[in-house]
Amino acid sequence: METKKITVLAGDGIGPEITDAAINVLERAAEKAGVKFAFDRRKIGGCAIDEFGVPLPDETVTSCKASDGVLLGAVGGPKWDALPADIRPEKGLLGIRKALGLFANLRPAVIYPELSAASPLKKEVLDRGVNVMVVRELIGGIYFGPRGDTNGGKTAYDTEIYSEDEVRRIAKVAFDLARGRRGKVTSVDKANVLMSSRLWRRVVEEVHESYPDVELGHMYVDNAAMQLVRDPSQFDVLLCPNMFGDILSDEASQITGSIGLLPSSSLGTEKAGLFEPIHGSAPDIAGKDVANPIATILAAAMLLDNIGMESSARAVERAVAKFIADGWRTPDLGEGKRVGCREAGRIIADNLA
Ligand code: NAD
Ligand code: IPM
Ligand code: MN
Repeated sequence: METKKITVLAGDGIGPEITDAAINVLERAAEKAGVKFAFDRRKIGGCAIDEFGVPLPDETVTSCKASDGVLLGAVGGPKWDALPADIRPEKGLLGIRKALGLFANLRPAVIYPELSAASPLKKEVLDRGVNVMVVRELIGGIYFGPRGDTNGGKTAYDTEIYSEDEVRRIAKVAFDLARGRRGKVTSVDKANVLMSSRLWRRVVEEVHESYPDVELGHMYVDNAAMQLVRDPSQFDVLLCPNMFGDILSDEASQITGSIGLLPSSSLGTEKAGLFEPIHGSAPDIAGKDVANPIATILAAAMLLDNIGMESSARAVERAVAKFIADGWRTPDLGEGKRVGCREAGRIIADNLA
């Protein structure tokens, strides 16, 4: 039997609960497909700081690099918030993204019709359709530019910085994806103010020359944030620099009903991709078995897609859709047949049968 190695980085807060639910689903999918998964659990974030003194131990990176794919829960929490920037949990997440060269972060936001009541948008707006793919540049921009403080800590700075090559490779991902979707890319920037955005816009236009079949529009990020809630149906692929993509994807998630629904895949230069929900460690609900595991389970489906198990991936997506259609609801999704995190994972795994 073929064995695939999956590194599991559960992390902090609700991380262990949601990854357990997803592993449950993955195990069932593997059984059905006649494949064996070897799960290698490693530490990242706050729990790694507690055990190793650093948020990203070398052995974690080694395991990820040797794996077919990485499943991640979430990192961070109040326990570690006072630590210096360099050993914060979030540094571990940024570190593994960088170490694996994961420059392309794909965050699909799709509305399930049965969840329209959970969305803050009016039904008539949702009825026009919500199917947005946020393509977020993940290892550049202000997250990784020069930073520091001066003036004895009285002044601090971070630098938004992009090279042509960094913009080119993420723009290609967006245009390629658009070809398999509705053929439209909206590139988000702040070119009316930022130099780095003017470079971004110029390079996106250059890349577009090789994709005459794809429609390209540009939008300033402030307008994009507004348009997303005014009429999300206008967007197909939303191409964003790192920080704008971070912010707009949280906004897009709530349009679909809950941040607990949105998965992401991060792909790049190494073999292993990384698959995680877009949300964080949700310290306010950690350990209560109420977290919504769907984002992580759909991230596991993206992992299956990436390792050549497309039909298993589709089966997991159908199992999630059935769970929702059957009326099961974790608390974040509002009224319905109430279910907790573990039970939700079990029901979705059972739906695979
Ligand atoms: P968060 O996404 O953790 O939580 C925001 C709100 O959404 C909370 O009310 C939370 O309960 C709710 N929520 C999130 N996921 C949910 C789920 N699956 N089911 C139900 N409700 C859910 O964002 P935050 O509170 O700003 O950050 C908390 C910690 O997580 C911070 O330390 C932050 O740095 C970290 N964080 C980590 C990641 C990551 O690991 N990828 C992403 C975002 C934030
Ligand atoms: C995310 C998170 C991370 C980010 C943080 C925790 C570093 O918000 O994955 O969206 O900003 O990328
Ligand atoms: Mn985020």
